[in-house]
Amino acid sequence: MSADEKLRELEERRRAAEAAKEAEYRKQHEKGKLTARERVLMLLDEGSFTELDSWVVHRTPGLEGRRPLGDAVITGFGMIDGRQVFVFSQDFTVFGGSLGEVVAEKITKVLDLAMKMGAPVIGINDSGGARIQEGVVALGGYAEIFWRNVQASGVIPQLSVIAGPCAGGAVYSPAMTDFVFMVEDISYMFITGPEVIKAVTSEEVSFEQLGGAATHNTRSGVAHFAAPDEPTAFEQVRALLSFIPQNNLEDPPYFPPDDPPDRDCEGLEALMPDSPSKPYDMKAVISAVVDDGELFEVQAGWAENIVVGFARLSGRPIGVVGNQPRVLAGTLDIDASTKAARFVRFCDAFNVPLLTFVDVPGFLPGTDQEYGGIIRHGAKLLYAYAEATVPKLTVITRKAYGGAYDVMCSKHIRADFNFAWPTAEIAVMGPEGAVRVLHRRRLAEAEDPEALTQQLIEEYRAEFADPYHAASRGYVDDVIPPRDTRRVLVRALEACQGKREPTPARKHGNIPL
Ligand code: HXC
Repeated sequence: MSADEKLRELEERRRAAEAAKEAEYRKQHEKGKLTARERVLMLLDEGSFTELDSWVVHRTPGLEGRRPLGDAVITGFGMIDGRQVFVFSQDFTVFGGSLGEVVAEKITKVLDLAMKMGAPVIGINDSGGARIQEGVVALGGYAEIFWRNVQASGVIPQLSVIAGPCAGGAVYSPAMTDFVFMVEDISYMFITGPEVIKAVTSEEVSFEQLGGAATHNTRSGVAHFAAPDEPTAFEQVRALLSFIPQNNLEDPPYFPPDDPPDRDCEGLEALMPDSPSKPYDMKAVISAVVDDGELFEVQAGWAENIVVGFARLSGRPIGVVGNQPRVLAGTLDIDASTKAARFVRFCDAFNVPLLTFVDVPGFLPGTDQEYGGIIRHGAKLLYAYAEATVPKLTVITRKAYGGAYDVMCSKHIRADFNFAWPTAEIAVMGPEGAVRVLHRRRLAEAEDPEALTQQLIEEYRAEFADPYHAASRGYVDDVIPPRDTRRVLVRALEACQGKREPTPARKHGNIPL
């Protein structure tokens, strides 16, 4: 065969392989889903995809009559905004995207390459799970992926897009990656499906209710982003990557800012209500401070009493955490603690400085919270902040009471620069609680306990609830007018550029899980 003929044979083989899948692609489209290849091409910069292992076929006895080229996953590498990434995209049109020996080999190859090259890896999941015909070999394949997810954790960013079924033990690979993106109506994640649940507990629940995008973005906290369609999910992936470095040895990408670093933060003074019990929107505070007012929020629909997300300060990516007074008065509860703790640890692992806005009356009281282990979960956030060695900046806008003051990136757990607005109230507890503890007997004997309580609250507020006690100790570095917040933070972040913070030698810490 001549070289030309060999080339033609190659082209013919490729064309035949794709043509054989046409009918299956139609079925995929009828389900409202893109094909595995369309997804990769849409995610990556145009023309940048290089495919690997497209000639791989399975070796499963009994399935010899059906050996599609490439099997049930498309793998390779390409660019997002000109930066290297590795990808795999499960192909539901081949054995339901199920994972057998060679699918696992293809996926583990790109995970290994991503680790070696220090580049993010993005997995697009659309699969019926372990390939039933391959038995334990398929289970072993999953475990090989899980092991690599753990090795890569904190070394390269790992992102998971769920664009179809992801069930049983298969969910644990996305669950161990850094961010999970789900697409409404076509994706679901669960350990046991509706049928098994019905058989075991008699509960009736739909796929969507049990494990759809809304469920995991509002109730369980398993997912970080929900998109109405696949193109939007891929846009979200691209946007997220713009804030984070390629790996743990690099700094996040700097974009020269249009927004002046020393501009006033308009409207912040007016935003703060006169009454300390009135809510305001912490997202408005964040927007007034960061570049172009842009916050790329993470887990926006879950544990809304704390806001986390990425933004830029004078061109430098930062991770922002803020108590949200509009929801549960901004208290810390179990979900808020775990949400923020995981975000803080991601930022710390990938050299993203942390900016924390504090307005927290304390931990949420209640038996639900205590029995659910708020002690254990709250400790996660305290641990994560204390452990973080990236630059840490804190602004106390209003309440910083009790243990929550310590937890929310206080000076004592090694924040680098702490600022407070004049409206800050920093004390052991809120005035209502403190008055009840300190004056119990007096109040019990008072003719008008309500009036006396109000008077004592005012006295307590005047005596303790201000930022100046903390500032007199150096626990806050300065009390600043809200309008100055941006320029003060920009300078503080600049001052942190050479930060070095050695940590004790140890195998690893023991975060309360
Ligand atoms: C082999 C599978 C498969 C699997 C689907 N298929 N799942 N083949 N192993 N796990 C095949 C089907 O036989 C069918 O083949 C094709 O994929 C499409 O599947 P359909 O059922 O027609 O599609 P749909 O109606 O959309 O339903 C999708 C589905 C369903 C809900 C995912 O296929 C399903 O319930 N599959 C089994 C899911 C499951 O229980 N997996 C194991 C989970 S436990 P043909 O030839 O007809 O096109 C697990 C453990 C992981 O994964 C362990 C990690 C530790």
